[in-house]
Amino acid sequence: MPVTKQDVLDCLAKVPAPDGRALPQSGVLSEIIANDGKVFFSIGVDAAAVKTWEPVRQRAEAAIKALPGVQSVMIALTAERTAGSAATRPAAAGQGHGHGHAHGAGGAKPQPGVPGVGAIIAVASGKGGVGKSTTAVNLALGLRDLGLRVGVLDADIYGPSMPKLLGIHGKPETIDGKRLKPMEGYGLKVMSIGFLVEEETPMIWRGPMVMSALTQMLREVEWGTLDVIVVDMPPGTGDAQLTMAQQVPLRGAVIVSTPQDLALIDARRGVAMFKRVNVPILGVIENMSHFICPNCGTRSDIFGHGGAHAEADRLGVPFLGEIPLHMDIREKSDAGLPVVATDADGPHAKIYRDIAGRIRDQLAGGAGSRTAPKIVIEA
Ligand SMILES: Nc1ncnc2c1ncn2[C@@H]1O[C@H](COP(=O)(O)OP(=O)(O)O)[C@@H](O)[C@H]1O
Ligand SMILES: [Mg+2]
Repeated sequence: MPVTKQDVLDCLAKVPAPDGRALPQSGVLSEIIANDGKVFFSIGVDAAAVKTWEPVRQRAEAAIKALPGVQSVMIALTAERTAGSAATRPAAAGQGHGHGHAHGAGGAKPQPGVPGVGAIIAVASGKGGVGKSTTAVNLALGLRDLGLRVGVLDADIYGPSMPKLLGIHGKPETIDGKRLKPMEGYGLKVMSIGFLVEEETPMIWRGPMVMSALTQMLREVEWGTLDVIVVDMPPGTGDAQLTMAQQVPLRGAVIVSTPQDLALIDARRGVAMFKRVNVPILGVIENMSHFICPNCGTRSDIFGHGGAHAEADRLGVPFLGEIPLHMDIREKSDAGLPVVATDADGPHAKIYRDIAGRIRDQLAGGAGSRTAPKIVIEA
C-alpha cells in the first residue's frame, strides 16, 4: 500500500516542533507530496531558528521512513527570512530595485564547493525546448569519454528530464537514512527530482522549496569523487534561475541556443544573468544549427545557421560548436539512449566530444578559478 498524505500527517502529529506543538499544527509545513512511496515536503522556518529545527527535520524524516510503504523521504528545511531581517530574500535578488541593498545578486557570497567535486558547470538556456537537456547529457557523456568522472544534476525542478534521457528507473537509496546515493547510468552519477517525484505529477513549488530541493540534491547526495558535475538548469532567466545560479558554486556556464533571433535574445539574457552572479561563461553552443536530411545527407540551414556564433562573438564569449538538428539525436534522446553513449563512433558523438574537450580545456585553463581573470561580458 503506498503511503498517503494523511499517513504522513498522522505520523508527523507525533513529532513535536521546538515549541512543543505537533508539527502539522506549527504552520511550517509546505504541501506534502506522497507519491508511490516517495515523500517530499519542506519545513519553512526563520533563518535564525534553523539550528533548533534541524533535529526536528531529522526526527520527522526518520519517523516517515519507518512508515510502511515509504521508499524514500526528502524533507527540506528552508530558511525563510523574516521581514526586516538584514538579508535580502532570494526572490528580491533579480528585481534590480536596489534601495541600498548590499546583497544584490552580484555581491552574493560565493557558495562553498562540494567536497570531492572538482568543478560544477551549468548548462543553461534562455528558453525551453532548445535542446538544453539533450545537450547537457551528451556533453556529460563527452566529458566521460575524455576520461573524467562525471555527475549530472538535473536542476530543472519543473521539468526534470534526466530519468528519461538516461533511461534510469527506480529510486535513489539512502545512506544512513540521510544522504542519498545518486543513480547511475552510462557511467554517470545522476540526481534528479524526477527520481523522487513522479514525472507526471503536476507540482506547485514554492520558491524556497525549489531552492532547498536543489541544495539538497547537490549537498546531501553522496557524489563521491568527481571531476565535474554538469547541471541541467531550468530554462529561463528570471529570478528563480538567477537565485539557482547563485545557490550552486558554479565554475562556469554553457549557454545553449538555437540560431533563431528569439532564442538568441534569450541567450543574451542568459549570459547577462550569469554575469550578474559572477559566473564565467564557458561558451555558447548552437543547437539545431542546421539540418542534415537523414535520407540524402543534404544540409539545409532551416533556422539560419550561424546566429549563435555571431552572437557569441558579439558578446565576447567563446563559441563552443554547432550541433545539427538530426533525427538520430532526437530519437535516441527520447528513448533514453543518448547518442554519445550508444553511437560512440558516429558523427554526432564526435561533435559533442569536441565541445566537451573545449569545455575541459577551459576548466583546466583556469576558467572560473579565483585567480583567473574574469571573462568580461557585454550584457
Ligand atoms: N540537435 C538535435 N537534433 C534533433 N533533436 C533534438 C536536438 N536537440 C534536442 N532535440 C530534441 O528536441 C526536444 C527538446 O529537447 P530538450 O533537450 O528536452 O530541450 P530543453 O531541455 O531545452 O527543453 C527533444 O525532443 C529532443 O530530443
Ligand atoms: Mg530540459
